[in-house]
Amino acid sequence: MHLAVFEDTPLNDLNTLRLPARAKRYAEIHSAEQLLKLVRRGDLDGHRVAVLGGGSNVVLRSGVLDAFVLHISIPGHSLMNEVEDAWIVRAGAGVNWHEFVRFTLEQGWAGLENLSLIPGTVGAAPIQNIGAYGVELADRFFALEAVDLRSGQIVSLDKKTCQFAYRDSLFKQQAAGRFIITAVSFRLPKQWHAVTEYADVANELKQLGLTNPTPMDMSDAVMSIRSRKLPDPALLPNAGSFFKNPVVSAERFAELAVTWPKLPHHPQDDGSIKLAAGWLIEQAGWRGRSIGPAGMYDKQALVLVNHGGATGEDVLNLADSVRAAVVEKFGVVLEQEPVML
Ligand code: EPU
Repeated sequence: MHLAVFEDTPLNDLNTLRLPARAKRYAEIHSAEQLLKLVRRGDLDGHRVAVLGGGSNVVLRSGVLDAFVLHISIPGHSLMNEVEDAWIVRAGAGVNWHEFVRFTLEQGWAGLENLSLIPGTVGAAPIQNIGAYGVELADRFFALEAVDLRSGQIVSLDKKTCQFAYRDSLFKQQAAGRFIITAVSFRLPKQWHAVTEYADVANELKQLGLTNPTPMDMSDAVMSIRSRKLPDPALLPNAGSFFKNPVVSAERFAELAVTWPKLPHHPQDDGSIKLAAGWLIEQAGWRGRSIGPAGMYDKQALVLVNHGGATGEDVLNLADSVRAAVVEKFGVVLEQEPVML
């Protein structure tokens, strides 16, 4: 497809919080070659580069974003390789995440079912290491391809290099802004077992009377749970969980548990304890509460929603108030999850 560069382009429809903003410069990218061409002929020189996939994990301030915004729409998915114990499946960065998950399941390649219905694109998934119901991208990741803006070359990065952690990776840390992901490949194990430890999932399967769920059953169950708890961005604009679940030391947790014995928590491998931010926000009085057009969702307090007409400033203002209320009540600091562009 033709490469066209636009000036002063509205981004309102390109972010799932539907925040009003404009890009100083904008191009939609349909292939890695197109992106390389743009880089090599120096079109990006002198500009800050901002990458948009599905726009489901970003906050945009109003006004003109002083950046060259690249909207990554690279399509395609295919079986790259079959090894003894796994299928290696590759997808273009612009592929819709959920459609990719369902495609793999339809082919009989299991492993991504717990990540069903997560909004966004394949190329955005590694940046925050998307995760849900006991599985995260890192568990199934094989490698990714990206354009390195520093060298102007296409590089392949393996799992270790990507430094995946809870809702975090190299791409949010040291290498922020350096790589533009063009494709991701996954290692989907032939020896599959359902990951059902998460209470919501276990309850859903019980309700459905499924003791031996197939990968498709798991996907359907996760879709039902998500549809009940999380607002559809097409109907109520949002960016998923607005804060990370905070991780505290075992000592700090023990102190908190004296006052708050019901505080939901999950021990981590390193001995620290992950707390439920949604619960903290609810207890601090912010579930279903708004400031102007921005509010915390009434069915899941961790999700910040745009009731209509909110700006990035409204969103940040609400987030500040919620963060302050949680600090005041629990002494715990919440970290914003979506990226500021
Ligand atoms: N809770 C409340 N009140 C609320 C919300 C939650 O009391 O308003 C309690 C729940 O009862 C539960 C606990 O908090 O005991 C955890 O809630 P939930 O199972 O809904 O999950 P979460 O911790 O809020 C995380 C991820 C989600 C992911 C789900 C399922 C983060 C930041 N969020 O949410 O991911 O779908 O677990 O695995 O880790 C995202 O990152 O955008 C996202 C949606």
